[in-house]
Amino acid sequence: MKHFLRTCCFSAVAALLFAAAPVWADDAEDIRLPTPQKSGGMPLLDALASRKSSRRTQGERPTLQQISDLLWAANGITRPDGKRTAPSAMNRQEIDIAVLTADGLYEWDEEENKLEREETREDLSDQLNGSSVFLVFTFDKDDQTPAYAQVDCGFVGQNVYLYCTSQKWDCVFLGSIDRKKLARALDCDADEVLYGMRIGIR
Ligand SMILES: Cc1cc2nc3c(=O)[nH]c(=O)nc-3n(C[C@H](O)[C@H](O)[C@H](O)COP(=O)(O)O)c2cc1C
Repeated sequence: MKHFLRTCCFSAVAALLFAAAPVWADDAEDIRLPTPQKSGGMPLLDALASRKSSRRTQGERPTLQQISDLLWAANGITRPDGKRTAPSAMNRQEIDIAVLTADGLYEWDEEENKLEREETREDLSDQLNGSSVFLVFTFDKDDQTPAYAQVDCGFVGQNVYLYCTSQKWDCVFLGSIDRKKLARALDCDADEVLYGMRIGIR
């Protein structure tokens, strides 16, 4: 009986630890994200009143659920015709989001809601700078003019600000980023790297 109870306790603790831990892939495979949470959070007017840039460079390691929720808020698909939480000029939907965490660099595929691993030799730890997540917004010059891409990126950025405010996370929109290094890591041109956002999960 004692052995049975000990085994049960051990299994319960192991299950709890496993459930609480983020399940990032150890190898270079894509990561399928869990279904995002699309309701709840802080009332919009409260989030607007509390939104601010916070440059605190610390944060917890994100779970896949947190990443999925954050990305959906940023620019997730909301309608059957594929339209998003953020508007885009001529509905070009040209803003791509790369996700940098201590676990690596990934491109978000919003249709499949998965993270595609980017193999890079670049050391991007200075961009992450101890925070939980660094989002990189890029666009394809063939899809949109730079002027419209800048505006469209701003809408995505504000979605992220409001979502982070709602979660009581730290967050800042960044123009001062190493575009050349990020472009090398993401295999695009430096002028296609628009902005970054550094997020600290508390
Ligand atoms: C286009 C843009 C670029 C920004 N670049 C930086 C940056 O490189 N570094 C930084 O610390 N904050 C940056 N910020 C954040 C602003 O400094 C911040 O929004 C401003 O001081 C107002 O503060 P608030 O966001 O708390 O209202 C940027 C904001 C915008 C809109």
